[in-house]
Amino acid sequence: RDMDNQPSSLKMELSPMSQLSSQDALKAQVAHAALAYVQPHSLIGVGTGSTVNCFIDALAQSAIPVQGAGSSSIASTQRMQALGIPVVDLTDVQSLSVYIDGADEIDGHGYMVKGGGAALTREKIVAAQAKQFVCIVDQSKRVDVMGAFPLPVEVIPMAVPQIIREFSALGGQAVLRMREAQPLVTDNGQYILDVHGLKLTEPMALEARISQWPGVVTVGIFAFQKADICLLATPDGVQTLRY
Ligand code: 5RP
Repeated sequence: RDMDNQPSSLKMELSPMSQLSSQDALKAQVAHAALAYVQPHSLIGVGTGSTVNCFIDALAQSAIPVQGAGSSSIASTQRMQALGIPVVDLTDVQSLSVYIDGADEIDGHGYMVKGGGAALTREKIVAAQAKQFVCIVDQSKRVDVMGAFPLPVEVIPMAVPQIIREFSALGGQAVLRMREAQPLVTDNGQYILDVHGLKLTEPMALEARISQWPGVVTVGIFAFQKADICLLATPDGVQTLRY
């Protein structure tokens, strides 16, 4: 796993260098495979994270012209602009042909946990505007039941203690995501809770339930905005999973 995108509680699980570099190779491979879903001269949506960074780089290097890209984060906007990919304002756009993004976990239905990179709110908004969600992951993200990766939830700061109590009642331990001894502040000026100990056996019901709690901006369960296609990078090549 890319450590930059992980909650700080996971940072102790550092992989050996050789494992990291083979994972990087899988990310580059799956990012390249996603180019097949970019229709020339179309409007596309672009996610956030280390796998998407590989996709942005591959798109810039390819000869595929895009009309524009709707971006899910300041980081992706900056990377695309630096490489000459035109970024569009999503409020000016009605729909996107495809949304390409990574995930922290994806199950057998195409349901995902996202938000390891703190961009979940804009990711869900951009995904909602796209006709097709293409999820690009390496095989470490494919799980049977989601929940081992702590569930990211973007919240309004004043609601943090109450939402921690709500998760506790569900059997989850919610931890405020920190950066340099301060709460991490998202692109939207809000905080992130990472919830440990949940088993996401019914992702759609749980997404609906948590989304209704006062102060929740976005829960990182993507069941209503699930993947239509998952490109799964394995050492034997990229598999295409359709849901
Ligand atoms: C960012 C996300 C990313 O898609 C997710 O964290 C996966 O990132 P990476 O490709 O770096 O593993 O949801 O908010």
